[in-house]
Amino acid sequence: MQFNVKNNRPDTIKTATWVVAIGKHGKLTDTAELVDKLTLGAIKNAIKLGDIKGELGQTLLLQTQQKIKADRILLVGCGDKALSDAQYRKWLSSSFNILKQLGGVDALFVIDDIEVANRDVYGKTKLLVETFEANNYLFDEYKSSKAEAYRLAKVTISCNKILTKQIAEAVKEAQAIALGMALTKDLANTPANICNPIYMARQAEALAKLDKKIKVEVLDEKKMKALKMGAFLAVAQGSEQNPRLIVLQYNGAKKKSEQPIVLIGKGITFDSGGISLKTGAGMDEMKYDMCGAATVLGIFKTLIELQLPINVVGILACAENMPSGHATRPGDIVRTMSGQTVEILNTDAEGRLVLCDMLTYAERFKPSAVIDLATLTGACIVALGTKASGLMGNDQTLVDALLVAGKKADDRAWQLPLFDEYQEQLESPFADMANIGGPKAGTITAGCFLARFAKSYSWAHLDIAGTAWVSGGKEKGATGRPIPLLAEYLLSNVKKI
Ligand code: BES
Ligand code: MN
Ligand code: ZN
Repeated sequence: MQFNVKNNRPDTIKTATWVVAIGKHGKLTDTAELVDKLTLGAIKNAIKLGDIKGELGQTLLLQTQQKIKADRILLVGCGDKALSDAQYRKWLSSSFNILKQLGGVDALFVIDDIEVANRDVYGKTKLLVETFEANNYLFDEYKSSKAEAYRLAKVTISCNKILTKQIAEAVKEAQAIALGMALTKDLANTPANICNPIYMARQAEALAKLDKKIKVEVLDEKKMKALKMGAFLAVAQGSEQNPRLIVLQYNGAKKKSEQPIVLIGKGITFDSGGISLKTGAGMDEMKYDMCGAATVLGIFKTLIELQLPINVVGILACAENMPSGHATRPGDIVRTMSGQTVEILNTDAEGRLVLCDMLTYAERFKPSAVIDLATLTGACIVALGTKASGLMGNDQTLVDALLVAGKKADDRAWQLPLFDEYQEQLESPFADMANIGGPKAGTITAGCFLARFAKSYSWAHLDIAGTAWVSGGKEKGATGRPIPLLAEYLLSNVKKI
């Protein structure tokens, strides 16, 4: 999708549809006043006739006069108060849904038309670009007949001259984020019979080829055995699919030796539960259990686009969790790479088993921070639903930075406590710990488990079980979250330097 930023008067810009915001109670923005004047009072007349009240998302189409270069004008109500992020997204999506039904594939927006609470033009532009790119996303790879879907091809953002640079910057960042999200969504939506650990490795290698700053290394079972990754391998051993540990290194920092930010992604390409088999309903969605790993690849795509001057390491823990004669049994005890032993009481708590060895492996990169991303617990969906990712960590400064980034990106996270008292729930009579902590506070005890392997650096954990994909129905699909949060966090690291 193409975005243009223009400073000339909006009525002189040629476009298929000029989208104009209309406030409630007949209050007109400067843009609406201009349109009203040029259309000989068409807007005020429509309001008088009761055709549009300006309520959020309400729409009305106007034919234009010769004085206006746009083929038509679409009025979209924006209410009478500054909009929240969610309301602004609703306004943008309402516009998109009407544009879909009209002729033409381009549109014009005046960015200052709408007030959004806590967002300047830069922040508004980012949400606008991201929302339209998300609306445009389509996954029809496996459809025999491709529906002729509407795609918005070009958006012109009209603004005051002094804002041009800021807006152009926001467009560039948001497009890089959207590209990362699209890659994450594509990988996550791809079914598990195609997207297996080896497929993920190939995708990582293809990504690395795009940029000399990226190195990739793929470790197979033999190498993982040599590294004594007993927990990771225990998860993979029930499946016919071979596991892969994929390491990506993006070296963008001016100082080569600058400590990297390490991103670890849970990449269970299918989670059947193993011997602790899941029930049938909705099990297809466990192809999304690699969303953490897909997010790491997506963020590397964003990094390539933005060429950020930082060092980032991505670690993808890819395996399939299946029941078979080779599979791990409940009660089995394994030794992790850290040397600590784990009694596997439930083979469906496999995410933490692959991640714990990655947390130990991450030590070799001498990270400035480690962030792991995982569709880790169903309990997280119970606690936070689908609106916020669960966030825990051992360094409040890092946690705070991620909370702020999430707010800025409108891709929010919410912190849960990792109080020491919760650790007791993981005690085992036979091993150093059990892999489950009982029915209470399931998201937190999963975090507590990981914390035992992340003692030597600053670490945060994002449980994205509720945010990484939309469940069930026609709307089912990956969301590309938490790419916006992570991108904002990485950008905040650049801006600090
Ligand atoms: N991948 C699942 C978590 C999950 C479940 C994400 C449903 C999204 C929707 C994870 O591997 C898992 O199965 N976790 C168990 C942990 C339990 C056995 C302690 C869970 O949440 O039920
Ligand atoms: Mn599981
Ligand atoms: Zn899982």
